[in-house]
Amino acid sequence: MEAVKNAAAAQPIIQTRNVKKTYRVGSVDIQALRGVDLSIMPGEMVSIIGPSGSGKSTLLNVLAGLEHVTSGEIVIAGKRLDKMNQSELIVFRQKHVGFIFQSFNLMPYYTAVENVAFPLSFRGMPRKRREALAVEALKVMGLGKHLKHKPSQMSGGQQQRVGIARALVTNPDIVFADEPTGNLDSNTSDDVMRTICEVMRSRNKTLVMVTHDPNMAMYADKIIKILDGRVVDIQLNEHPTYLTPRPKRAIGDELEEQSEQAENKKDNKQGDTQR
Ligand SMILES: Nc1ncnc2c1ncn2[C@@H]1O[C@H](COP(=O)(O)OP(=O)(O)OP(=O)(O)O)[C@@H](O)[C@H]1O
Ligand SMILES: [Mg+2]
Repeated sequence: MEAVKNAAAAQPIIQTRNVKKTYRVGSVDIQALRGVDLSIMPGEMVSIIGPSGSGKSTLLNVLAGLEHVTSGEIVIAGKRLDKMNQSELIVFRQKHVGFIFQSFNLMPYYTAVENVAFPLSFRGMPRKRREALAVEALKVMGLGKHLKHKPSQMSGGQQQRVGIARALVTNPDIVFADEPTGNLDSNTSDDVMRTICEVMRSRNKTLVMVTHDPNMAMYADKIIKILDGRVVDIQLNEHPTYLTPRPKRAIGDELEEQSEQAENKKDNKQGDTQR
């Protein structure tokens, strides 16, 4: 029995065989992926790096079931993605996958709680329960004081932490992130990457992240390099950055902490009915 369990645990959560993706623009074929073979184990944190136009986003999109492959096989969590039709892919994504976007993709008129609760609305869950789970996810991200803030009332780093909470609230097996720190300054990028990695590791979830920034790539356990639609190198990273001690607080964090302290004082004075 134990052996069967171990054998099951040793199965990759993501496996591709000779995946090709060709876009046709007018009469021209663009080969974005030219035969990708990959294997990613459950709980692994992987970064995909490569120059602009090398096929990183295309690879992420086909792995996440956002786009169909032209040929080849993709097996995720035991399911053949390349055989699924559009509606099967939607169900698959809702069940297994979370996304973190470069531009956060938050809904501007919704509060942090409403944004994070949104993916749960496809599960027939009562509103109160959805919001309770969203509040919990936001608190894990250190946003307990920003629950009712709208995106325009938050910094970029805070908005991305809302994005992370939204990706995780459904408890997906895999989180895909395309340039999650691409719109953030370098201190905030480190803070956000560390947060993503710590929470993924604590839940033993799989992370596949695209970045063109070699520093961000070093947060992962494995670095896959792609060039011209092909995997050209796979490196194991024995010293992922998230395992190193957190650097001294950045100025931005201090400001945030001060404003949170001020907010706490205000809350204590005025009760919890504000905002
Ligand atoms: N929807 C599309 N239609 C046509 N061509 C596309 C489409 N999406 C991507 N491509 C082409 O496929 C190739 C790979 O693009 P992709 O977006 O995957 O690159 P990338 O590595 O993510 O680049 P970047 O670092 O600039 O984001 C490029 O030549 C691009 O022009
Ligand atoms: Mg891209």
